Amino acid sequence: MENIKDQEKCWNELAGTKEFPTPFSMKKFEKHVTPRMKVLDVGCGYGRTLNELHTNGFNNLTGVDFSVAMIKRGLKLYPYLNLIKNNGENLPFPDNEFDSVILIGVLTSNVTDIEQDLLLKEISRVLKNNGILYLSDFLLNHDQRNLKRYAKYEDKYGIYGVFKLPEGLILRHHSIKHILELTNDYDNLLFEKTIFRTMNGNISNGFYYLGRKK
Ligand SMILES: C[S@@+](CC[C@H](N)C(=O)[O-])C[C@H]1O[C@@H](n2cnc3c(N)ncnc32)[C@H](O)[C@@H]1O
Repeated sequence: MENIKDQEKCWNELAGTKEFPTPFSMKKFEKHVTPRMKVLDVGCGYGRTLNELHTNGFNNLTGVDFSVAMIKRGLKLYPYLNLIKNNGENLPFPDNEFDSVILIGVLTSNVTDIEQDLLLKEISRVLKNNGILYLSDFLLNHDQRNLKRYAKYEDKYGIYGVFKLPEGLILRHHSIKHILELTNDYDNLLFEKTIFRTMNGNISNGFYYLGRKK
């Protein structure tokens, strides 16, 4: 598998131009997390979700992203946000620090089961007991364009649903079963299938998940 440095480089190259359209559901989030709670956005990109939270009165907000260019763009757009460069392997926070962690469109570019497990373990470490995980990402699609690329890259990467974009990014679309296994340490509060527009203007199956740390 291409290494994390290559993925980081790709995201840095995309940071000046890409808009992330995956909607954040404030309504679903606010059912479980209140504005005074401490929230961490992992793979925060240019900070659009944290800014939406800020606009809605949340004021204890932190974001991490391994792309320095994303962090720079975020700090330029929203200088009041606390955005930190970090790749999620060792989050620079103590255990049980946050009331909620947000992870939107990040699993998709950490494609192996091992990378995803480690990321979720590290998130669970910094999340308080009963803390809320808000997770949103892409699901497997069944149209010809996707079926073709899943088949093309399955032999190379050994995982069905992984493919490579012309920009160089390696991405993964997930089965629902995989997402539910990955979030085994959480009580499932919500799993909702939806359709997202992607950063390249295509449409894809996706989901919203909310879980409470056991
Ligand atoms: C599709 S973008 C989504 C950004 C943001 N979550 C949003 O929805 O606006 C994925 C982001 O995750 C970051 N990322 C991917 N893997 C990461 C990792 N292991 N650690 C930190 N950031 C990561 C990328 O740099 C990119 O900014």
